[in-house]
Amino acid sequence: MAVVAIVGGQWGDEGKGKIIDLLAEKAKIVARFSGGDNAGHTVVNPYGEFRLHLIPSGIFYPQVTCIIGNGVVINPAVLLQEVDDLSNHGVDTNRLFVSDRAHLIMPYHTLLDALEEERRSKGALGTTRRGIGPAFADKVARLGVRAGDLLDKDTFRNRLSVALEFKNIILTKAYQASPFSLEEMYDQYCHYGEQLAPFIRETSSMIHEAVTKGDPVLLEGAQGALLDPDFGTYPYVTSSSPLAAAGCVGAGLGPKEIDRAVGVFKAYNSRVGAGPMPTELKDEIGNFIREKAHEYGATTGRPRRCGWFDAVAGRFSVQINGLSDIALTHLDIYGGFSSIKICTAYKFDDEVLTSFPSDVAILEKCQPIYEELEGWEEPISGIRNFDKLPAAARNYMSRLEDLLSCPISLVSIGPDRRQIISVKELFS
Ligand code: IMO
Ligand code: MG
Repeated sequence: MAVVAIVGGQWGDEGKGKIIDLLAEKAKIVARFSGGDNAGHTVVNPYGEFRLHLIPSGIFYPQVTCIIGNGVVINPAVLLQEVDDLSNHGVDTNRLFVSDRAHLIMPYHTLLDALEEERRSKGALGTTRRGIGPAFADKVARLGVRAGDLLDKDTFRNRLSVALEFKNIILTKAYQASPFSLEEMYDQYCHYGEQLAPFIRETSSMIHEAVTKGDPVLLEGAQGALLDPDFGTYPYVTSSSPLAAAGCVGAGLGPKEIDRAVGVFKAYNSRVGAGPMPTELKDEIGNFIREKAHEYGATTGRPRRCGWFDAVAGRFSVQINGLSDIALTHLDIYGGFSSIKICTAYKFDDEVLTSFPSDVAILEKCQPIYEELEGWEEPISGIRNFDKLPAAARNYMSRLEDLLSCPISLVSIGPDRRQIISVKELFS
């Protein structure tokens, strides 16, 4: 069968939660592989409307085992809250497992995230202030605390005291902040550990076993390609890779196991936080898209910056992810637009750029070059068949496929699970 990675193709918030909730119907395992609770995956289904930050969006199906992989950083308080919320809505969370290798977000990570943002002042990155950057920094600095450490109180105390000693020096000397108490943090996290113990285990073997049996596995990405620390708009990026390839390392699979990589793209572009976005519309069209599509952050409530589809960035995203398919979301938002623009190249000084620059200083100066397509008047959210879509909508999709050199296999035309048009079967 198939391992399918579902990843964000733009700057995050593309509607990954909805696509995963839909495809998980046929999956045995859904595994998150990167990011942390900076993600906000909105799912609307018969159980209600949910904003999942850590738990995979496959949790609503009784046959699906959900895994929070080693590549994720976990804030235990957020995870426990999410487990509670789901249980209160009648969703069974007994099939949830957390990798013992996943790193934990500690209170000093969230505090340092906020202090670093304030220190950057005008140059702030606009992070979600969830402690993501500091937690991943500690992982590679070999100063992290892992979920598995919570299972042995002595190991945990040792790890925490080494890390906290260092963090308290930074907090008090560099930021003149109060130090954290080892005893209080130890007690608090031991308490989390007792509640999380049933979920924590080695998880890569579970995925490997499913792959060996040929069971369908979904790898759930977070964020989007343009927030990748290597290929995104550095330094305005997140701190773990949202790319399909990271699905291997973040879940414990080899690259040849991934059969399809599906990039989720909105029919337009949005971005939350700082950093260049060439097609941003700071006018009534941008405001109209934001209000019609409720483009406010699921994690922070911040208004998202909205603009026309950027096919230069989109083509780059297809390449660096190695996408086999596109899931196009929010196409319904364009209903009623008499014309729609797509950015096909950038103007930089006297040059025309057709590839995405690696330097944000260049990207900041890029002016979009647009192609204008005919729009359509009628609402499309009730349509379930590709052929019934207005010709202009099909034409828009076909132009995106050409520009991105990748087929669109799914089209979402509303937030509900049923508001979807499947063009091609993804699990084969
Ligand atoms: P989902 O999974 C959109 C952005 C933040 C900020 C930058 C760095 O819902 O698509 P961080 O807190 O990660 O250090 O912030 O990344 N960002 C997201 N934007 N969707 C997300 O996740 C995001 N996760 C982080 O706004 O610009
Ligand atoms: Mg989101």
